[in-house]
Amino acid sequence: MTDAPAVTEDNTQSLTIRDNRTGSEYAVPITDGTIKAADLGKIRVDEETPGLAVYDPGFVNTASCRSAVTFIDGDKGILEYRGYPIEQLAEKSNFLEVAYLLIHGALPTKAEYDAWEHEITYHTFVHENVKSFMHGFRYDAHPMGMLMASVGALSTFYPDARNIDDPANRHMQIVRMIAKMPTLGAWSFRHAQGKPFVYPDNDLSYTENFLSMLFKMSEKKFEADERLVRALDVLFILHADHEQNASTNAVRSVGSTQVDPYSAVAAGVGALFGPLHGGANEAVLRMLRRIGKKENIPSFIDGVKNGNERLMGFGHRVYKNYDPRAKIIKKSAEDVFEVTGTNPLLDIALELEKIALEDEYFVQRKLYPNVDFYSGLIYEAFQFPPEMFTVLFAIGRTPGWLAQWLELVQDKEQKIARPKQIYTGERRLDFTAASERWA
Ligand code: ACO
Repeated sequence: MTDAPAVTEDNTQSLTIRDNRTGSEYAVPITDGTIKAADLGKIRVDEETPGLAVYDPGFVNTASCRSAVTFIDGDKGILEYRGYPIEQLAEKSNFLEVAYLLIHGALPTKAEYDAWEHEITYHTFVHENVKSFMHGFRYDAHPMGMLMASVGALSTFYPDARNIDDPANRHMQIVRMIAKMPTLGAWSFRHAQGKPFVYPDNDLSYTENFLSMLFKMSEKKFEADERLVRALDVLFILHADHEQNASTNAVRSVGSTQVDPYSAVAAGVGALFGPLHGGANEAVLRMLRRIGKKENIPSFIDGVKNGNERLMGFGHRVYKNYDPRAKIIKKSAEDVFEVTGTNPLLDIALELEKIALEDEYFVQRKLYPNVDFYSGLIYEAFQFPPEMFTVLFAIGRTPGWLAQWLELVQDKEQKIARPKQIYTGERRLDFTAASERWA
């Protein structure tokens, strides 16, 4: 026996565990619906053998932190940033205000918002050397690879960012990163097209400036249709945070080493690059193209039900109800198509959704449209190539990554992220030198 918690009279907020290997009983305290994995570590057969551990690949049932940034109730389809419902933020706020809310934890006063907007606007420029190294990428470099590399490289331009214990310094890096992400993203896009880089325009709003850096050619002043600017701004809001998803976990994990925030966010961009995370909207477009026309939907659905196909843009690890972001995106799609003309794939998507939502297979498994079902259609209407979809996601997610990083570095309970393993390899083999083995 060790110093493991004992069963006592008042064990209502605890879990009683009986270890059948030893016959010992333990009361493990329950706090906020969780037990501490370290408490399980105190349960052991004898002093020599390691304590009990939790095996949880993919962290499907492991809380890694306490967080006050984002709340999700997947069964009810609820998403809130700092307590505010996503529907209200998407309708009445803008991306920069939402970024402020995520970072600071409360809505800004007018003076605070003006100062924040000014700071972000005046940090959108990047060092000229960034331009030089971006030119060094191959002509067909994936913009997400360029974004990941250039965000990481910012750490070399701002070595003071390593001073993560200084609140003013942290604030400076957060402003820089939110401000420069669209510049880096837009330049990655222009590089692939062989077009000259467009410098930021401080007269434009955050999202309009991004569109200007993407699409401006010889005109003196770039002007975008307000409805398009608003739709993209809403998409940024919808992607701004999603609690402990894979890329946020990457940011937190790398950030737990106390590295500078540029290096931590570069890890987040890397995680987002993966098709299981940021790439599903592109797969939706491919699927819709393959279906081709409404008449083909029933046979496609049959293929899904037989297990030969997957209905991309449907289903979610957390949401077992309509993803609240998908509802808002559907509305944005209508606004965008008013300007750009409709995408013929939209009719297929709408019909597909209708049929799937009435079908027993999807109803039983609680499969609803997720954020990716309609977002690709909108991005395509903007004439973004599919490689850019994840870059847009990364720009939107940046305030969330930084809010979570900020929370991490101030959280006294956090430690360097270092999981355990179950070792399955050989032990104590005798090594024979190569000269003998190969003789
Ligand atoms: N099409 C058909 N069947 C599905 C789908 C789908 N899109 N999603 C889940 N199912 C079925 C599974 O086959 C399984 O059926 P079974 O019980 O008969 O075996 C059941 O529903 C449960 O699915 P799981 O795979 O256990 O769900 P999980 O939580 O592991 O996966 C995921 C979630 C990966 C999102 C899955 O729903 C999926 O692959 N969806 C399509 C891809 C997609 O849209 N990804 C974007 C997610 S949103 C985001 O990351 C931003």
